[in-house]
Amino acid sequence: MERDQLIDLTRRAVKLARDKTTDLAPAEHIVPAGNYTSVERHRRDVEMLMASPQLVGYVSELPTPGSYCTKTVMGRSVLLTRTSDGAVKAFNNVCLHRQSQVATGCGTAKRFTCPYHAWTYDNTGRLIGLPGREGFPGVQVRSDGLTELPAAEFAGFLWVALDPGATLDVATHLGPLAEELDSWGIGRWSPLGEKVLDSPINWKLAVDTFSENYHFATVHRDTFATIARSNCTVFDAFGPHHRLIFPLNSILDLDDVPEEQWNPFQNMVVIYALFPNIVLSVTIANGELFRIYPADEPGRSITVHQNSTPLDTSDESVAAGAQAVFDYAHSTVRDEDYRLVAGLQANLESGVRDHLVFGRNEPGLQHRHMSWESWSAVDG
Ligand code: FES
Ligand SMILES: [Fe+2]
Repeated sequence: MERDQLIDLTRRAVKLARDKTTDLAPAEHIVPAGNYTSVERHRRDVEMLMASPQLVGYVSELPTPGSYCTKTVMGRSVLLTRTSDGAVKAFNNVCLHRQSQVATGCGTAKRFTCPYHAWTYDNTGRLIGLPGREGFPGVQVRSDGLTELPAAEFAGFLWVALDPGATLDVATHLGPLAEELDSWGIGRWSPLGEKVLDSPINWKLAVDTFSENYHFATVHRDTFATIARSNCTVFDAFGPHHRLIFPLNSILDLDDVPEEQWNPFQNMVVIYALFPNIVLSVTIANGELFRIYPADEPGRSITVHQNSTPLDTSDESVAAGAQAVFDYAHSTVRDEDYRLVAGLQANLESGVRDHLVFGRNEPGLQHRHMSWESWSAVDG
């Protein structure tokens, strides 16, 4: 992000902190409890994710030609490769024989031998080896292959479309946010792995936890709230996406410092919600990514949490330090946010109260839900 823009956002954040207020939506917003519990709504949500470009990781997870990684997206296993000409490709990670996963984890490999009966594919997905070929007269070695999915690297991230016949237009999807996301560079920082939360909460309830900081003083009293302000957020919408600035407690110290000496990034956390199911949290030292997916029923979801660091992780102690920060962030989300909202999901499913109310001080939360609703209205 340009320094001018950072300074401008910092000015807005300092003013909110000084006035002990937050950016406000025009009115309160009511959401039916059924949005989190109905089977029909769940089916529509899955359709919405299937139809949307899916950010699945950092470009740094495919650092060189010959690199590969595997991702699980709404129960589907996806294999991503970087081919010899540097292009990113994606495939359903499903063997043509009896549907074993042909690759697991990540690393470097020019070919993938299925662990079940050793059918072998190159990193462009082509079937190049088939032991016991006389058993399969209908299979064409060197012309059959894994089902390819549209894939792209854009703004520092890896993207796929889950429908092989779809067009993947990430530039249009991100609009003016593309350049800003790219400028942070977090997609090119060193990846620190994935941690998975299989949780008894609707996927939207998981996204909601990242959409306001009104809860910091209570839920994160002994963790985030020791460094960040509560109920104080700079909010901006970008089409169906949004950006929140969470000011740190130190931001009021800037009152005594001339603007040209400000180091804005020392005083804020920047949170992006990318439509429909991605959350990015950017600080000076961490590029956290939350990929949040509906699971097999409305009351369950899968969150894949990733983190990247600008530090040099080839130094062991630096790598251990970065992992410790990642562990801390992860356990806070798991033990503070997700544990608490499991109780909300139970209440929503009990049916004793038919709606929730989102305050004027929760503009990000309101914007998430309005974006999801307008997808339903347009595509329904
Ligand atoms: S399932 Fe892959 S070779 Fe048999
Ligand atoms: Fe939280």
